[in-house]
Amino acid sequence: MRNVSKGGMNVMSKTVWKPGTFIYPIPAVMVSCGTMEKSNIITVAWTGIINTNPAMVYISVKPERYSYNIIKENKEFVINLTNEELVYATDWCGVKSGSKVDKFSEMKLTKEKSNFLKCPSIKESPVSIECKVKEIKELRKSSYVYFRGTVNKC
Ligand SMILES: Cc1cc2nc3c(=O)[nH]c(=O)nc-3n(C[C@H](O)[C@H](O)[C@H](O)COP(=O)(O)O)c2cc1C
Repeated sequence: MRNVSKGGMNVMSKTVWKPGTFIYPIPAVMVSCGTMEKSNIITVAWTGIINTNPAMVYISVKPERYSYNIIKENKEFVINLTNEELVYATDWCGVKSGSKVDKFSEMKLTKEKSNFLKCPSIKESPVSIECKVKEIKELRKSSYVYFRGTVNKC
């Protein structure tokens, strides 16, 4: 915002930016995926609510992420909300790849059986939202892929 003079009055004018999303801040979440035997965690900020009833959410994940194929194949994911205690792990899971490390064991997080999914939840998370993938959409070549999920349980 900047001040401009209009008819002798000082009014605020918006700065015009090139197209961008600008919806900040967006809380990052820890998305668990896979099965109890072969699981992973990816930190995701591009997530949100789409609908109330039925409850629907989305996550956007880049195809080069190790988690991408896991979510695509299993068609399930869990959105685990974070809190102060989970700040370090949330950041860490967003810079390391499950192709090289076991994020559950490295971050001393506990896999918890979900109520409706094969995909584990993170026990230490205050809220775990179990989701079944209903739609996968490539938004643009070499960009994020959108996974729409219905919520089975929070
Ligand atoms: C705060 C934060 C938010 C992130 N949000 C996303 C996101 O929305 N989508 C995505 O594909 N990657 C996102 N990332 C990057 C992935 O978490 C990161 O590449 C991670 O290492 C991928 O793990 P994986 O290879 O085990 O799947 C984010 C990273 C951080 C630190």
